[in-house]
Amino acid sequence: MRPGNRVVGLGEAEEFIRRYHQELGRSDLLYPRLAEVRREIEDTGTYTQTPEELAFGARVAWRNSARCIGRLYWRSLQVRDRRHVTDAAEVAAECAAHLRTATNGGRIRPVITVFGPDDATGPDVLIWNEQLVRYAGHLRFEGGYTGDPRGYGLAELATGLGWRPPGGAFDVLPLVIETRRQGLRLFEIPGEDILEVPIAHPDFGWFEELGLRWHAVPAISNMRLRIGGISYSAAPFNGWYMGTEIGARNLCDTDRYDVLPDVGRRLGLDTSSDRTLWRDRALVEVNRAVLHSFDSAGVTIADHHTESERFLTHLAREELAGRSCPADWSWIVPPMSGALTPVFHRYYDEGRPSPDFHLDEAARLRAEGISPCPDPRLGTRTTLRRCPVWHG
Ligand code: ARG
Repeated sequence: MRPGNRVVGLGEAEEFIRRYHQELGRSDLLYPRLAEVRREIEDTGTYTQTPEELAFGARVAWRNSARCIGRLYWRSLQVRDRRHVTDAAEVAAECAAHLRTATNGGRIRPVITVFGPDDATGPDVLIWNEQLVRYAGHLRFEGGYTGDPRGYGLAELATGLGWRPPGGAFDVLPLVIETRRQGLRLFEIPGEDILEVPIAHPDFGWFEELGLRWHAVPAISNMRLRIGGISYSAAPFNGWYMGTEIGARNLCDTDRYDVLPDVGRRLGLDTSSDRTLWRDRALVEVNRAVLHSFDSAGVTIADHHTESERFLTHLAREELAGRSCPADWSWIVPPMSGALTPVFHRYYDEGRPSPDFHLDEAARLRAEGISPCPDPRLGTRTTLRRCPVWHG
């Protein structure tokens, strides 16, 4: 092996292999496997994880996700080992299959699909989208956006690559997939693989007229799964939604769908001053609508009270298992009614153990349609036509 080809640090690999055998109660197999891994790293610079190691690593990466309140069910993560899939069209087809498995007719299942590991020159497959399903944003002539402003950059990029968006408020973005061999490619996910829920309110008939909807499966697709020194840059994963993610953030953040002014007016609230708490009152109604709509559609969704209780159960279980549970207070506490939930009233461990999911700065930029293309003449926000994909 040439030294430049080493991908994996021996220490990280060994620590993971030890943890795997220890947690699964297979210490009898530890030393032979360690010897094997060491030899492979010495010969090739990296090692191949067994399907069992990969599945364990992915589940523990979820368990270690400090920002996730939904970790009680980390053991149930279904792992789709697709490390052999490298063709862009097949990657896209696997993403659609992921959504079908995860959607499960509305009874959402936590699933991860793992594509091939990075090598010494970096990732072989990358999904630019931050989630498998996200909505495009379109700049309006009179100012402001139609759709999700957060999906503006990627929509621009996709349009530059030949996508023709319908121009509505909920246009699902195509998958933007980059492979080393094929560069950037666009793929539309078949409509029948994307379950969406129209949002209606249990008491207010007019709510439906707002024309709001949301997709059933939140599947993060631009975080790097890191297990025992190996990086899987393409490894989309999902759980189910907690209502406030949609009702308090996606629909109500002022730099997202920003529906509160409209809802406040239609509720007949006094919107002349913040002190009337009209936003707070409208916020509750939007969140009732989200939970009600998912329930009526038979689609799994958690409310923030229940999910907070579950998280405390998770903490207790982790403590019993003798493990520290990393958690980030500012992410764990729900974005509405914080102090009504028990997760508000305590502190958390702040370690960042591995395996984990990591969001690279470059990945964050790609999700906004900005290529990490190093050529300054091309600018930063650039389409592939002007900027050949760069594998630095
Ligand atoms: N907050 C993100 C969204 O609204 C999804 C993040 C992951 N959420 C989850 N429940 N697994 O789309």
